[in-house]
Amino acid sequence: MDKIRVIGGSRLKGEIPISGAKNAALKLMAATLLTDQPMTLTNMPNLADVAFMADLLRGLGVSVRSEGGNRLGEGARYRLHAGTAVHTTAEYDVVRKMRASFQVLGPLLARHGKAKISLPGGCAIGARPVDFHIKGFEAMGARIDLADGYVIASAPAGLKGTTFEFPFASVGATENLMTGAVLAKGRTVLKNAAREPETQDLGHCLIEMGAKISGLGTSEIVIDGVEALNGVTYAVMPDRIEAGTYAIATAIAGGEVELVGAQASAIGALIALLRQAGTEVQETNRGLSVHRNGVCPTAVDVNTGVFPAFPTDLQAQFMALMATADGTSHIRETVFENRFMHVPELLRMGADIKVEGDLATVRGVPRLKGAPVMATDLRASVSLVLAALAAEGETIVNRVYHLDRGFERLEEKFSAVGAQVERIQ
Ligand code: EPZ
Repeated sequence: MDKIRVIGGSRLKGEIPISGAKNAALKLMAATLLTDQPMTLTNMPNLADVAFMADLLRGLGVSVRSEGGNRLGEGARYRLHAGTAVHTTAEYDVVRKMRASFQVLGPLLARHGKAKISLPGGCAIGARPVDFHIKGFEAMGARIDLADGYVIASAPAGLKGTTFEFPFASVGATENLMTGAVLAKGRTVLKNAAREPETQDLGHCLIEMGAKISGLGTSEIVIDGVEALNGVTYAVMPDRIEAGTYAIATAIAGGEVELVGAQASAIGALIALLRQAGTEVQETNRGLSVHRNGVCPTAVDVNTGVFPAFPTDLQAQFMALMATADGTSHIRETVFENRFMHVPELLRMGADIKVEGDLATVRGVPRLKGAPVMATDLRASVSLVLAALAAEGETIVNRVYHLDRGFERLEEKFSAVGAQVERIQ
């Protein structure tokens, strides 16, 4: 099985192209089920999760073809055509590999009036139930039964518009209900909805397809159902979590890196904290430039939260930065109940971190030490690569398949800016 080998101590210099956003691409792919016309998605990242979603869609009868994306900085082009002959069952074997598979529920229910989707189950970062999705579709008139680990949903007369308030601004539930509501009868009002940039990206694509949606980026999204949607060509937004990860990597290793394609507005909370911690971040006409000279980062406190607060998907990476900061940082994880799986591995590299409930107290140490490590999810895994950039000696990160789910050409991107990061057998 592949591993990533990192030799710490190199400063970073140069530019890194930012790929299309995984968490937008997956939902846009699911949304192609909403139309019988061909769709084209461009700026697609070349990732294992995208390949899983392509397999799931093929299993549902969608034609999926991809081209390009073979060079660093070049997104792939996906042509997807759901046509009319779509199956409506997503099996456990596919859904268990990737929770985002559950996002086909809304499009299938909206267009075909039925869907049978395996329940995704828990995962390393928490229980991650789907009760908001289910309650929302029930409020839209669907009948939902749970049997043999599957959600069996039907709405023979179509979904009906409703007003639904999410108990928590869930990204997946907002997106699932939004893709159901675009073809529902009447008006749907989603309150306490997710405001994440990827949710907005999905909404913008749906609008180009002919959907009537207002309020994207606010916590109240209003959707007036239409009869049918058209196929369009749509470019996936740049990945803010990938951009944020390389920004933090530069703060950890030191040096100067331009993140080509990065959008400052999508990672405002991170930029503010990086600046407080002593890293310079400037917008350029191509993206963002990140610069840290030899000075040790200053400890700052972090609370994760829903957008525009600090994203949970950057918490592990920021903890790696705080592990060698000057002072003590308090990092509170408010989105997932079990997202500190990277902590024991950072401890093996010499970090000083204590976890009590949702709070991690990180006392900066002068230097981490390389070690063999592994992690249980993709953001945790990349945080270990980041920690290794500033560590003394060699770090081997095992279970690289986690990284391949969400970071395209990680070792090539790091090598291009002078880091010693390579894939080994
Ligand atoms: C999305 O997951 C992302 N995944 C996650 O990224 C990201 O961490 C998360 O949003 C938060 O930003 C994709 O977009 C594919 P939620 P999602 O529904 O939609 C609870 C990564 O590393 N909840 O906003 O599953 C839930 O348990 C991944 O790329 C319910 O209780 O997240 C969690 O505590 C990891 N019931 C909180 O809400 C529900 O029905 C937020 O979850 C739904 C959610």
